[in-house]
Amino acid sequence: MKGLAFAALISPLAALAADVTPLVAGDLNSTLSALDSSVLDFNFISFGNAYFLQEDCPGYPSYDRSDGVPCWQSKCGVDSPPEGCFSGELACQHGDDECAGNAAETCVKHLKPDFKDYMSFAYCYEASFPPSADDISGCAEAIGLTTSDIDACTSDTSLMASLQQTEGYATAQQGIPGTPTVILNGESMSSTRLMLRQVCKAFATLNPSAKSPAGCSSSMKQLRGSVLASSSAI
Ligand SMILES: *[C@@H]1O[C@H](CO)[C@@H](O)[C@H](O)[C@H]1NC(C)=O
Repeated sequence: MKGLAFAALISPLAALAADVTPLVAGDLNSTLSALDSSVLDFNFISFGNAYFLQEDCPGYPSYDRSDGVPCWQSKCGVDSPPEGCFSGELACQHGDDECAGNAAETCVKHLKPDFKDYMSFAYCYEASFPPSADDISGCAEAIGLTTSDIDACTSDTSLMASLQQTEGYATAQQGIPGTPTVILNGESMSSTRLMLRQVCKAFATLNPSAKSPAGCSSSMKQLRGSVLASSSAI
């Protein structure tokens, strides 16, 4: 049985500007709650539209969403990225707070690699933006961590550099047009509505003779729910 490669490239703190929180709390939550790692090879990348500023890219030394981001992606998303692609100043679209939030989520994923754990943290962390110190500590405790565990990771410069290189490289390689982007088996999902159903269908296509995962039976209810919702809107 093959697991599905499933990745969400999201900068959660871009939530204020985009529809990221509804995705994390909605379709992504129901998909990840229904299925587990025997079915899904899931990776959540908290990097958003950030990049490492490049002297030879437009906008330098400032962040440039329209030209700097794609310049860094095409320069650095290659098989052997040139020196300096994933070091130096990391600039986030919405500034340092966004970078700090992404760093916290990346560290939690490093400390608790099971997606059920680290996505529960992301769900909780993003529920009350900006999270207070108490919120963060509650979200951490719920998955068996403390705020100091997270701080020890985010303040470890060489660990952070390596984690951010991994997340940045995955982002550059995908050449994502923006955030959120959700990739299912190598294809960017054009709509994340009824995500569980789409994921279950993809699983069935990939594993024609496997039994349908238990969590997939609720995807039929999800479909019925949506038909009901649209008929009540008429
Ligand atoms: C999904 O949502 C529930 C609340 O309804 C939350 O407790 C849980 O941590 C979330 N899980 C994930 C993986 O997002």
